[in-house]
Amino acid sequence: MKLNIALLPGDGIGPEVIEQAVKVCNAVAKKYNHDIAWTEALTGAAAIDAVGEPYPDATHEICMKADAVLFGAIGHPKYDNDPSAKVRPEQGLLKMRKALGLFANVRPTFTFPSLIENSPLKKERIDGTDLVFLRELTGGIYFGKRGRLDNGNTAFDTCTYTRAEIIRLAKLGFELAMTRSKRLCCVDKANVLESSRLWRETVQAMEKDYPEVEVSYEFVDAVAMRLVQWPNSYDVLITENLFGDILTDEASVISGSMGLMPSASKGLHTSLYEPIHGSYPQAAGKDIANPLATVLSAAMMFEDAFGLKDEAEAIKDAVNKSLDKMIVTEDLSGKGKAYKTSEVGNWLD
Ligand code: IPM
Ligand code: MN
Repeated sequence: MKLNIALLPGDGIGPEVIEQAVKVCNAVAKKYNHDIAWTEALTGAAAIDAVGEPYPDATHEICMKADAVLFGAIGHPKYDNDPSAKVRPEQGLLKMRKALGLFANVRPTFTFPSLIENSPLKKERIDGTDLVFLRELTGGIYFGKRGRLDNGNTAFDTCTYTRAEIIRLAKLGFELAMTRSKRLCCVDKANVLESSRLWRETVQAMEKDYPEVEVSYEFVDAVAMRLVQWPNSYDVLITENLFGDILTDEASVISGSMGLMPSASKGLHTSLYEPIHGSYPQAAGKDIANPLATVLSAAMMFEDAFGLKDEAEAIKDAVNKSLDKMIVTEDLSGKGKAYKTSEVGNWLD
């Protein structure tokens, strides 16, 4: 099969972890007789430096033409403490999500038996955790009307959702729940927010189309608490953009390392696969960052974007073996040997 993949390494550790994922993808492609055509494009601070824009049109065109996008990370410290910066790398990310219509961000959280001691939570609390967040990604407060009033002394951001936006995200949630334990949790703040009441009303109206799915409705503050108390009580969770941003970071610590969690963003055009960790600028260029989240994102890409299950399993198996044998970077090595990013990549491929 011919696989056309757009490659967006981005900033910070992005290029290093992407390089390892590319090695692994090429090795799998060779084994299963696929032909990958990689097309690299600029994003983030790297794109601002080169062409003055964090998501250039040329990059968008490459993404639209590809069958899938493999993405590293964006963000650079030189913008973080400069509120006056006119263009910021993160704007590129938001523009890309909107332009590719990536309305659903799929973020799984699971535990690895060999790493269970790495989690800050007690083993018995997290054992067996295997949950998936579906975060709405192109609406809500991230994209609502915002501004300043009163000579800059008052600021506002607005959270707006349409019924159609909720339906398309919730539909993916119901469908995913059907392939898993048939439990779906709708996370909102319907006791306070009108937009949350629309979420709840819309999801409730969809229940009749999925009679086998058991739906629960929980307030976001309660979920934030139960997520660290009993994470293994959840299966599929759907939620709006900002709640999903916060809760998925919280969920990522359950597994013991943010460096392990992959994600997919899907929607109207090409789907995108990326690790959930950011650009981790302190580690950039040092060959120490954990490449496994990016490698696992590539596994998600094989399965979801191309329907290549065996290839995805082969990648996941290799990752599990590297964890069992502790061929891991310093974030996971504890008292054992800390391997370099590139060494982990070489071992996997
Ligand atoms: C994420 C990130 C982004 C977000 C930032 C970098 C804009 O935190 O992908 O979760 O808030 O969506
Ligand atoms: Mn985030």
